[in-house]
Amino acid sequence: MPLSDKLKEKINKTVSKSETKQSALIPVFHEVQSEHGWLSQESMEEVAELLGIPPASVQNVATFYTMFFTKPVGKHVLWLCRTLSCALRGAEQVEHYLSEKLQIHTGETTPDGKITLLEAECLASCGTAPVMLIDDELHENLTKKRIDELIEKLRRE
Ligand code: FES
Repeated sequence: MPLSDKLKEKINKTVSKSETKQSALIPVFHEVQSEHGWLSQESMEEVAELLGIPPASVQNVATFYTMFFTKPVGKHVLWLCRTLSCALRGAEQVEHYLSEKLQIHTGETTPDGKITLLEAECLASCGTAPVMLIDDELHENLTKKRIDELIEKLRRE
């Protein structure tokens, strides 16, 4: 999907407020991803052209950060922490439970396009492990019951 005129206008504003075009790249990616859900090859090429940055550099930045999706994801993204504290407090069992419940493996999206399950590095909430982000919201002290409630809520949306 090409960038809309409205989005291009927003991008131009972001670029005009940035010190350099390179430094505008991250906020611009957020804007594109928030509108399109992910960063397609086509949208990255358009961003490269708008900012006057080589397409390879744009792609390198996009693929460096895990928060940017360079392939389509579901409407909701679950980021399950697998780092030490969460691992010690059952993250692996949580992952198995989620995989079974959603009928997908980590890295995949449910067939209805609603939920993508991904692994995350430490989410800075080790004291309340195991934790996961659902989109931008942190959920702590995960139990099977809590996961059931969260997934049911996502399925209803
Ligand atoms: S290890 Fe999971 S939040 Fe830190």
